[in-house]
Amino acid sequence: MDKKKQIVMSGIRPTGFLHLGNYFGAVRNYVRLQQEYSCFFMVADLHSLTTHPDTALLKQQVFRVLAENLACGIDPEQAVLYCQSHVPETAELYLLLNMLAYVGELEKTVTFKDKVRQHPDNVNAGLLTYPVLQTADIILHRAALVPVGKDQEQHLEMARNFVKRFNHRYGDVFPEPQAFNFGEELLKVPSLDGTGKMSKSENQYATLYLADNDELIQKKIMRAKTDSGPTSPGAPKPDYIVNLFQLMKLVSTPETVAQFEAAYDSCGIRYGDMKTQLAADMIRFIGPIREKAHSIQQDSDYLQKVMRNGAQKARESASQTLQLVKEAMGLTYY
Ligand code: TRP
Repeated sequence: MDKKKQIVMSGIRPTGFLHLGNYFGAVRNYVRLQQEYSCFFMVADLHSLTTHPDTALLKQQVFRVLAENLACGIDPEQAVLYCQSHVPETAELYLLLNMLAYVGELEKTVTFKDKVRQHPDNVNAGLLTYPVLQTADIILHRAALVPVGKDQEQHLEMARNFVKRFNHRYGDVFPEPQAFNFGEELLKVPSLDGTGKMSKSENQYATLYLADNDELIQKKIMRAKTDSGPTSPGAPKPDYIVNLFQLMKLVSTPETVAQFEAAYDSCGIRYGDMKTQLAADMIRFIGPIREKAHSIQQDSDYLQKVMRNGAQKARESASQTLQLVKEAMGLTYY
């Protein structure tokens, strides 16, 4: 690996299917970043235990999320793609960092408070220290750049605080990690029901998953909310129409988008036609990713090889960091 390259690290939760919002908001950026940076992408299976203690489906979910990310273009030769539980140095660093994290600040974390509200019967210590584990993931490779969405800002701020405390107490070992989005505004993919974005959507029909078959994609798009169209030229678009155009911009050609923009402006738009076109283009976009993910998922030998290679590279990087940590902390007795 090129030593001069800056280090990028991100974690992927193995819960839930990958959807269009994940693709345009995160995975597509990972694919671009892997060429220019030294990237570590990790499936956060240990994190998922904080909220999903039943592990019956975990293996299947880890395989699926790996397959989906590979199908989207993550190249395990360029980026280090690994599974959190395969790198035990993560747990070791997590333990050391726990001594620097105050219970009071952990209790104030928004995601922790949300989880307490959602699952009052399972407020476990792992949930409380979730941001500490996430910090361990990041600084295990001394990463400075973390491509994540807005929802992870508080976790990153906490990571910076833990890093500052460590560096102050034991000496400069870690860079302070920053959120990173490839110099662009983070793309929000709107949901199909005109409310919020795809990832936040609770309505299954409002979100397009990369595993959806053609028929389902078609059905979801044709059900998207529209109205009888503008009645005067230059009328502003309602939110749900803006959303449809936004989706179209992601997957259709600029000529197609321009054609429907012009039809809207002249009050001649037929939303049925627009949705038919959007569905066709969406199917052309999602179809190949779905098929590729499906075939990778069947190939467990390949997936295991990817995981094993990834773990090996991640552990090399991790053990170097832990050596520095132990020297800095004076945990070197022989
Ligand atoms: N907490 C992140 C999420 O919910 C997942 C994650 C785990 C992560 N470890 C990470 C993200 C390290 C960035 C860096 O999506």
